Amino acid sequence: MFAKGYHDLGTPAAKVTGRVVTLEIDGTSVTVPDGTSVMRAAAVASRDIPKLCATDSLKAFGSCRLCLVEIDGRRGFPASCTTLVAEGMKVRTESPKLTELRRNVMELYVSDHPLDCVTCPANGQCELQDMAERLDITSTRYGLAGSNHHHGELDKSNPYFQFDQSLCIVCSRCVRACDEVQGTFALTIQGRGFDSQVVASAHESFVDSECVSCGQCVETCPTGALVEKSVIRIGAAERATKTTCAYCGVGCSFEVEMKGDQLVRMAPDRNGHANHGHACVKGRFAFGYATHRDRVLKPMVRATISDPWREVTWEEAIDRTAREFKRLRDKYGADAIGGITSSRCTNEETFLVQKLVRAAFGTNNVDTCARVCHSPTGYGLKSTIGESAGTQAFDSVEKADAIIVVGANPTEAHPVFASRLKQRLRQGARLIVIDPRTIGLVRSPHIAADVHLQLRPGTNVAVINALAHVVVTEGLTRDDYVRDRCEADSYAKWKKFIAEPRNSPEATESITGVPAALVRGAARLYASVPNGAIYYGLGVTEHSQGTTMVMGIANLAMATGNLGREGVGVSPLRGQNNVQGSCDMGSFPHEFSGYRHVSDDAVRGAFEAKWGVGLKAEPGLRIPNMFDAALDGTFKGLYVQGEDIAQSDPNTHHVTEALSAMECVVVQDLFLNETAKYAHIFLPGSSFLEKDGTFTNAERRIGRVRKVMEPRTGFQDWEVTVLIANALGYPMRYRHPSEIMDEIASLTPTFAGVSYEKLDRLGSVQWPCNDNAPEGTPTMHVDTFVRGKGRFFVTEYVPTTEHTTAEYPLLLTTGRILSQYNVGAQTRRTDNVIWASEDLLEIHPHDADVRGIKDGDWVGITSRVGSTVLRAEVTDRIQMGVVYTTFHFPESGANVVTTENSDWATNCPEYKVTAVEAIRVAHPDEWRARHESSLRHTITA
Ligand code: SF4
Ligand code: SF4
Ligand code: SF4
Ligand code: FES
Repeated sequence: MFAKGYHDLGTPAAKVTGRVVTLEIDGTSVTVPDGTSVMRAAAVASRDIPKLCATDSLKAFGSCRLCLVEIDGRRGFPASCTTLVAEGMKVRTESPKLTELRRNVMELYVSDHPLDCVTCPANGQCELQDMAERLDITSTRYGLAGSNHHHGELDKSNPYFQFDQSLCIVCSRCVRACDEVQGTFALTIQGRGFDSQVVASAHESFVDSECVSCGQCVETCPTGALVEKSVIRIGAAERATKTTCAYCGVGCSFEVEMKGDQLVRMAPDRNGHANHGHACVKGRFAFGYATHRDRVLKPMVRATISDPWREVTWEEAIDRTAREFKRLRDKYGADAIGGITSSRCTNEETFLVQKLVRAAFGTNNVDTCARVCHSPTGYGLKSTIGESAGTQAFDSVEKADAIIVVGANPTEAHPVFASRLKQRLRQGARLIVIDPRTIGLVRSPHIAADVHLQLRPGTNVAVINALAHVVVTEGLTRDDYVRDRCEADSYAKWKKFIAEPRNSPEATESITGVPAALVRGAARLYASVPNGAIYYGLGVTEHSQGTTMVMGIANLAMATGNLGREGVGVSPLRGQNNVQGSCDMGSFPHEFSGYRHVSDDAVRGAFEAKWGVGLKAEPGLRIPNMFDAALDGTFKGLYVQGEDIAQSDPNTHHVTEALSAMECVVVQDLFLNETAKYAHIFLPGSSFLEKDGTFTNAERRIGRVRKVMEPRTGFQDWEVTVLIANALGYPMRYRHPSEIMDEIASLTPTFAGVSYEKLDRLGSVQWPCNDNAPEGTPTMHVDTFVRGKGRFFVTEYVPTTEHTTAEYPLLLTTGRILSQYNVGAQTRRTDNVIWASEDLLEIHPHDADVRGIKDGDWVGITSRVGSTVLRAEVTDRIQMGVVYTTFHFPESGANVVTTENSDWATNCPEYKVTAVEAIRVAHPDEWRARHESSLRHTITA
């Protein structure tokens, strides 16, 4: 609403064909792409035609009849939104007759609309009001006495917005937004003529309907019919500031609308390169956690973890932090301490924490939560194609012909990208889903997967090998592409391996559970279209063979020539908002920013010169090694910024024992999280609304985060790191995060061209951004792979040691849901809990039946390392022999049961496969009491 600066051109841009058309609009010559509407051409020429049902994010609909124009040689008054330009066309957008017709239309609208604009929440932001003013409608000849909708229904069921039918002009923009942009098809226009009205699903309340609360209908509504409750409560915004969403790796851009110091609403940015004006329920509405009463705003200390917390000043907290780390360093050596950076914090904050650890602590013991999610992506992609990141921009999906989604559930975890994907599928692209569950993409309104390979958890590598086997043995490889771009030796070796009969779909069927014919069909489909694209998630990486699977995906893409242009590629869908950035910034113990090894003398020398200290050439400890070392008595102090390792890491008992064994744990977070239970110093964190910086999304896009309110604790997180460094005697002098970015750019070749000035000018850029690509790189590996020649790796399938037994006959796998985020610390403190207030255990009807479990029953699940209890959801979304849950609520502690197994290359935990037994439990409290010790553990994914 506040974002009035956006010039809505009325209809979407025409498809690019290269052909242009020149026409005359009100005597002015205008040249536009062929296929453009007259309305858009006029808007381009600054002749905005009155409109109500048209907006440039939706296809033209032609229902309001306000946009009529006169065209020489044409009869009547065509609607400019549905009329396409033609060469030599002469258009008049204003004339006495047009004004008369438009006024007549407006009078009809106004006669069925309450005239209390002054008290309407949309006052000043309403297109109907604007049009009435423009056409000078102050009264209506039709009176207000006839039939009207003045007493239409008011639906307040959604926690974030309301629908007031009395204000609805039935323009259908909301219906079309839900269909065309969001892809949920929750709304329809019911009835005809005067009786027509907008209804949700089968005339249900919004909250009971299929609506997923993305807010797109609210965004597009031209009147106050659909409006945010926060706008009603607080009033119209006074100012807006652009920022980037702090939830998932899609990295949507928003205009944060403020009135005084109150956040009125988060409006999706129509110029946002990642989201193009779209959003999901989390980024759009779930911002209440930032001002939640649970926020800790003062630093706290305590001598031991059994003591109560004592609030202290920042001076005392920083002094104590520095004294403790100095003490531990002097007593045990620098390698006895370390730090964990946060994938929720900004690039600048992450860069500073790893700098603090390397330069001020004097150790390479720094790691990040990517260790437990996408570290195999980094290793696998770097080894095969040379860069540890996704190859594409999200826009690339618009050119994909066949799409593989493997181990990812985009409609729940990356919803805005999922909507783009669905748009492409509705245009005819083909879809292959590889997942143990029947995820939403397999079947939803107007889309269905062509093939669903419903594999057994833990058999990804066998499936990717079988797909590649078909491609190789049926002659579907692009040998010319491989010859030009890949290593001949590694290709020949891989090809020989993959062609072996043991990798065939028939031979692997008994391992994977996937019918061979489906695998053959999927392989032919992916390899035979012009553009095949692969999108994947944690269902690929969080396995004992996570890295092998990433390599297998890269092998398949290289062998079929599906890398290096738009419409193809290998794209990891990153979980947290800045997990890409935290990896880029040098958070791993073996790498500086830009993925350069600490043992590289030239690289290390550059950092030493800039930072003025000597740096170690040997990699430091990874997170699991830090825990092991703590239990061995050699690791004594940890600084954890914005990461709840006690809830998010596997085998929680092991984690909490390790934390308990340390002499000093410093936690910096918004809330007193599970890890803080083991901390000696708590430093309150600042939310993304309270800081400046940048996030990097899953498409390598660096977007600005801008401060819209003062930090409630007094400091932004980067300022706290600076204070700690200075107190440790290592000087850090930054006045603004832009100076940190300047340092990053000076030390990191892929960021060399990045500056806040450029980000402000371009909106965002995708790295690499340097002299070779001053405005960034949407598609990587275009002419050649970053590593030179692409390298194939033999991907032998090695079964995980985690398998079912008579004692643990089910396989547990984990995932996420739309309304909650990660460990739930933020979303659990918002109204999103009305959609999910607990984790559920999905179990197949057969498995439930044999155990006497019914929908809603309490179920105890036990693995060889732990036990927890949650309610059952009996559903055939999950296959027989497999159970599934989310990990958003500490009460259920789903990670209690996950094991210490991890990826062979990166130690990424095997969250996705745990052998368990599930039994019906009469009294959850009784079960909890019986399994008290293991319930202290928690699940993550
Ligand atoms: S609710 Fe708004 S967008 Fe939907 S039909 Fe009514 S006026 Fe149009
Ligand atoms: S909020 Fe989103 S999903 Fe719900 S009706 Fe509106 S557009 Fe559809
Ligand atoms: S899709 Fe992700 S980045 Fe976009 S609004 Fe939702 S949570 Fe935020
Ligand atoms: S804007 Fe063209 S018919 Fe409504």
